[in-house]
Amino acid sequence: MALKPCDNFEMYKPPMLVHNNVSLQPFNTFGIAARARDLAVVDSKHSLQALVTSDWMSAQRGLGRGVFVLGGGSNIVLSADVQAVVLKIEIAGVSLVSETDKHWVVQAGAGVDWHEFVCWTVAQGWFGLENLALIPGKVGASPVQNIGAYGVELQDSFHELDAIDLRTGHAFTLNAAQCAFAYRDSVFKHAPASQHAMGLKGRAAITHVRFALPKAWTPTLSYLDLQRKVEQTGITEPSAQQVLDWVVAIRSAKLPDPKVIGNAGSFFKNPTVTEDQCNDIIGREPNVVHYPLADGRIKLAAGWLIDACGWRGKTVGLAGVYDKQALVLINKGSADNPVSGGEVMTLAKAIQTSVFERFGIMLEPEPEVV
Ligand code: EPU
Repeated sequence: MALKPCDNFEMYKPPMLVHNNVSLQPFNTFGIAARARDLAVVDSKHSLQALVTSDWMSAQRGLGRGVFVLGGGSNIVLSADVQAVVLKIEIAGVSLVSETDKHWVVQAGAGVDWHEFVCWTVAQGWFGLENLALIPGKVGASPVQNIGAYGVELQDSFHELDAIDLRTGHAFTLNAAQCAFAYRDSVFKHAPASQHAMGLKGRAAITHVRFALPKAWTPTLSYLDLQRKVEQTGITEPSAQQVLDWVVAIRSAKLPDPKVIGNAGSFFKNPTVTEDQCNDIIGREPNVVHYPLADGRIKLAAGWLIDACGWRGKTVGLAGVYDKQALVLINKGSADNPVSGGEVMTLAKAIQTSVFERFGIMLEPEPEVV
């Protein structure tokens, strides 16, 4: 919606923590050069509540402006300048909040770097997050897409989270069931008016996340890449620190470091198909990488499908397909001349079309297109 000047708009000065016309290039790992009309930085639950309930914020709501919550910017594609008020959450702090017979319950502020948090838990002797090492982004964004890697998902050790209602400033707590976690999905990815009646996208900002880490820990080594590490090293009972080091090595070999090459991780979700659909594809493409799921459906490796269509290493404008992992789209530009969100989406659509034409599967983008 186009923004129009409003009579009472000038009456409300933005709070001190709001900055105007800010470049978002340093705040998204793709390195896209879009701007925020207003960027609010909050470093505590109370400053967030003060912002949300300020006269300035109500004036913005009156103008029909929404709020866009920015985490580490590692899972977004900025297709244009952002007209919503951008909220950058910098709430810090990590702590052990309680202990039961079976679990350590640890908490992190939404603004804590995810990988630093994982390393901190392992250094303290609290295990369970080590397979999720090196995932870019902040703790506050981790439940939004239920991050997952190497056989582990966030929901496996999630306990609860605290959030703020962005209309009223009220604080509330959600447990795992209320977050409605699924593969790369949660209640925070759905708008309130969508099929998910409880959608909280644009309606809530996460301030703290708590994890219940098991006292009786065993390593999760089911993922093929980790089994290879076991075979290569002969270490059959690795420590959590060893698993963390393996995951860091595997990720570094396959995935581009966003500090060096702009990207947003996997660009598409791995699609699921019925057994019949999978058998049909296997009939034509015997090598398709697929994994049976507990519910009888089959998950296909989107990276393999894209690779099979010949996209690995290809570029469209300044958008490229990473040459070591076809599921990752990258910024082939420079800081002064970066890829645009439009170029990334053009490449993404071309990939979707060719995968659809060859396999009859429409890939679904994984990052949020803003
Ligand atoms: N493959 C190819 N060619 C490619 C890429 C992959 O043939 O260009 C094949 C691989 O050889 C392998 C299979 O596809 O047999 C799967 O590849 P990989 O193990 O790299 O995992 P992925 O399914 O592509 C998922 C997650 C990653 C996560 C890894 C490890 C999604 C969308 N992606 O990738 O998550 O790190 O598994 O668990 O589920 C992310 O979400 O941003 C992300 C990086």
